[in-house]
Amino acid sequence: MEYNINLTPPEKDTAQTLLLPVTGKKLANGLNKLDSAAGGVLSALVAAGEVGEKPGSIASTHATIDGQLRRVILVQTGDNPDQAALRTAASAAAKAAVAGKGASAGNHLLLAVGKALDIQTAAAVIAQASVFEGYRFDEFKSKPEPVSALTGISIAVSKKGDLEDAQAGLNQGLAIGHGINFTRDLGNAPGNVCTPTYLAEQAVALGKAARIKVDVLEAADMEKLGMGSFLAVAKGSTQPPKLITLEYKGGKGKPVVLVGKGITFDSGGISLKPGEGMDEMKYDMCGAATVLGVFKALTALKLPINVVGVIATCENMPAGNAYKPGDVLTTMSGQTVEVLNTDAEGRLILCDALTYAARFEPETIIDIATLTGACVIALGHIATGLYANDEKLAEQLLGAAATTGDKAWRMPLWDDYQEQLKSNFADMANIGGRPGGSITAAVFLSRFVKDTNWAHMDIAGTAWKSGAAKGATGRPVPLLVEFLSQRAAKATKKK
Ligand code: BES
Ligand code: MN
Ligand code: ZN
Repeated sequence: MEYNINLTPPEKDTAQTLLLPVTGKKLANGLNKLDSAAGGVLSALVAAGEVGEKPGSIASTHATIDGQLRRVILVQTGDNPDQAALRTAASAAAKAAVAGKGASAGNHLLLAVGKALDIQTAAAVIAQASVFEGYRFDEFKSKPEPVSALTGISIAVSKKGDLEDAQAGLNQGLAIGHGINFTRDLGNAPGNVCTPTYLAEQAVALGKAARIKVDVLEAADMEKLGMGSFLAVAKGSTQPPKLITLEYKGGKGKPVVLVGKGITFDSGGISLKPGEGMDEMKYDMCGAATVLGVFKALTALKLPINVVGVIATCENMPAGNAYKPGDVLTTMSGQTVEVLNTDAEGRLILCDALTYAARFEPETIIDIATLTGACVIALGHIATGLYANDEKLAEQLLGAAATTGDKAWRMPLWDDYQEQLKSNFADMANIGGRPGGSITAAVFLSRFVKDTNWAHMDIAGTAWKSGAAKGATGRPVPLLVEFLSQRAAKATKKK
């Protein structure tokens, strides 16, 4: 895919497909000459209401322009679109362009910007949407379906003075888009390929390309650290567990530590899951994939802050030597846990990862985990469950969610829920029963972060889609990159 910014007037553009914005009831400014060249068919379609009024509604047609038959996709952005409206419109247009059958010399989109958006943000939104919609995962098909007609996107701006801002926005959007797609690739990779070892290799490769320090701890190292809880989960698998750390130093100050759940397959262990849909438990490493995707974007963006990634990764399998219900585990923190269900394994690997995270003297810890089916029951597949022990942190994360449309909803961490974790035989049990299952999982984790500013994101409902459109979403990479960008902007201001 090729992306560029240009000053070519739309009527001079020779691309096979033109993606053209409609702003409310009229064609966007600057398209009159093109419309005349097409014999007025574009404005006629708009006048006839063919495009629709909602941002993202489209009308596709073919028009002969300068004697050449071209595909034209008219997309409603709304009058003076905000980020959300432009995102919807750009996604719809890119999706339509990708679906085109004919070979294409390129897809050109004219940038329509009202007062609500600056050129840079608009270009970023369009670039990110086209990278996202152009995503394919056919690595494991022996005969991949024919490649899409979308060979690239050019964004036309009308003023020379806008070129630089538009280019900056394009680069930003591409960086985030590629980060998201990296997360999707890792999530979609089958469990027999995407093992803990594979994730470690991916982290090492990313570290080399982006010049960040990557460390991989083996089971023996974890043994020395006293990670009895993490190691117990890993025991039943022949795949060795890994604790991966990534250190990005882009600025001054204490780091944000991102902790990812990396169960590369969750069978449930001895508390075996039912068979239906079990394949989707290959996605149980999407928290880890999110950390890697964020690092990919963050290093491309060269954000002036410090960020550490901690990924705990293993398989959860039943076996003769697997951990069992009734076992009591000693965590790295010294606290003991009675296992009442081996399928509540995420919290058992994360608790040791959270304890380990403290050694980076974090300013903030954020863990990302496909932690509970209960979160899917609470929030469906729309919002990520957000927990935070700090009001400001919660506000910032919710702000980033609103800006990017990568939705999150705050859930409570009240002490009242702690009671459900009582155990007769250890400091706590690893499950709190069915009521408030996502909350008791979060409350369990809270016992391992003490006073550090901490947020937990339960992405069980948002990290992937089931059904016909089965596939990783790359969420919450957009939210987290926005959050870190905001931090970076603040850090730069302070100087
Ligand atoms: N990985 C699952 C959570 C999950 C389930 C995510 C379905 C997405 C879809 C997690 O390890 C798990 O199995 N949690 C249990 C906890 C229960 C045993 C307390 C669950 O949610 O059923
Ligand atoms: Mn489980
Ligand atoms: Zn799991």
